Amino acid sequence: MQQRTVVSLVGARPQFIKEALIGKLARERHIWRHVLVHSGQHYDANMSDVFFRQLGIASPDYQLGVGSASHGKQTGDVLVRFEELLVAERPDLVLVYGDTNTTLAGALAAAKLRIPLAHVEAGIRQAPKDMPEEINRVLTDHVSQLLFCCSDAAATNLREENIREGVHVVGDVMFDVFKVMKPLFDRGDILNKNGLVPGGFFLATVHRDFNVDHKEPLEEILSGLRRIARRTSLRCVLPLHPRTARKIEEFSLQPLLESLCVTEPLGYVELMSLLLHAAFVVTDSGGLQKEAWFAGRRSLVLMPDTGWRELISCGWNVLCAPAQEEMERRVLDFLSERVSCPEGVYGYGDAAEKIVVAIKKFLTSVSR
Ligand code: UD1
Repeated sequence: MQQRTVVSLVGARPQFIKEALIGKLARERHIWRHVLVHSGQHYDANMSDVFFRQLGIASPDYQLGVGSASHGKQTGDVLVRFEELLVAERPDLVLVYGDTNTTLAGALAAAKLRIPLAHVEAGIRQAPKDMPEEINRVLTDHVSQLLFCCSDAAATNLREENIREGVHVVGDVMFDVFKVMKPLFDRGDILNKNGLVPGGFFLATVHRDFNVDHKEPLEEILSGLRRIARRTSLRCVLPLHPRTARKIEEFSLQPLLESLCVTEPLGYVELMSLLLHAAFVVTDSGGLQKEAWFAGRRSLVLMPDTGWRELISCGWNVLCAPAQEEMERRVLDFLSERVSCPEGVYGYGDAAEKIVVAIKKFLTSVSR
């Protein structure tokens, strides 16, 4: 049989992590011709290149170079450029990850060309419905033929929307990557460089539009981080997303950063090394709130809702409004409690293997 072609589209930090093991398995085993495309949604060296280097991801076969823009323009640019590439490559399947504008554009391009689509991290649902990531993931799920879910809850969400065919509960590829890479996470130099001691700090990240695009929530969050640091006598380490850095400047909030340990965006290994030594996490990142659990750290989640509800219902992670008093209170509460979270919520580290096997089976079942 002629070798099949799968085009895998990535563009933003969490997608590089999700691609890492799937691409590696496919290439090592020559199961299909794996063509990697980078949309260019994230382009700074510390938002992109460092992930390829640290995770051993092959260089992209194509760079679409879209860069930053409004949602419509960014999504539209990926759609136009990716469609051209698909027409030339004529793949047997397109693979997209997560919930970014790159994901939606890739899904639309494939669906309109009637190329089968596989969605990794399908079935996640989160209020409010008009959140950009929610729009991206719902629309992507509804045009996918293969839907790889991290948990039973995600598959239930799909069933409730009448999506029943092609659904596979495989676990979370981010957990696979965490397990494989964990031996590299003891990077003492990132602690030394920032004058930190193990357990003497908490890790914070904030980049969501609803938290940073307006002055009030951003000011409350930065003030909340300072209050938590004061009350717990821990340092706050804050790797700054470029969007957040720009907004802090625009709203003249720099004085609120003074007592915090602010860093550039960090590579995967550095961030995970910090996580393993952090007392706890405060974040609005979907990826980091799960990674915190992988590392046995609890998270205050600065969101009205989360797609990772399993970690909320067992009490491990706690949702919180962008309000300084509530942030302080909730952290003090969770530091005084003992909670455990059931094992295996996101699988056992074999999600990439299961995805590769399912795609292979799908490719042999469809005629060219
Ligand atoms: C995107 C995803 C979000 C994901 C996040 C991971 C969407 C709608 N959102 O959000 O789901 O959690 O990636 O980080 O796709 N910028 C740079 N350099 C870069 C990239 C971005 O300076 O390399 C700045 C630009 O000013 C840009 C802003 O960050 O306008 C936002 O970037 P964008 O990719 O639009 O969204 P994220 O906030 O990163």
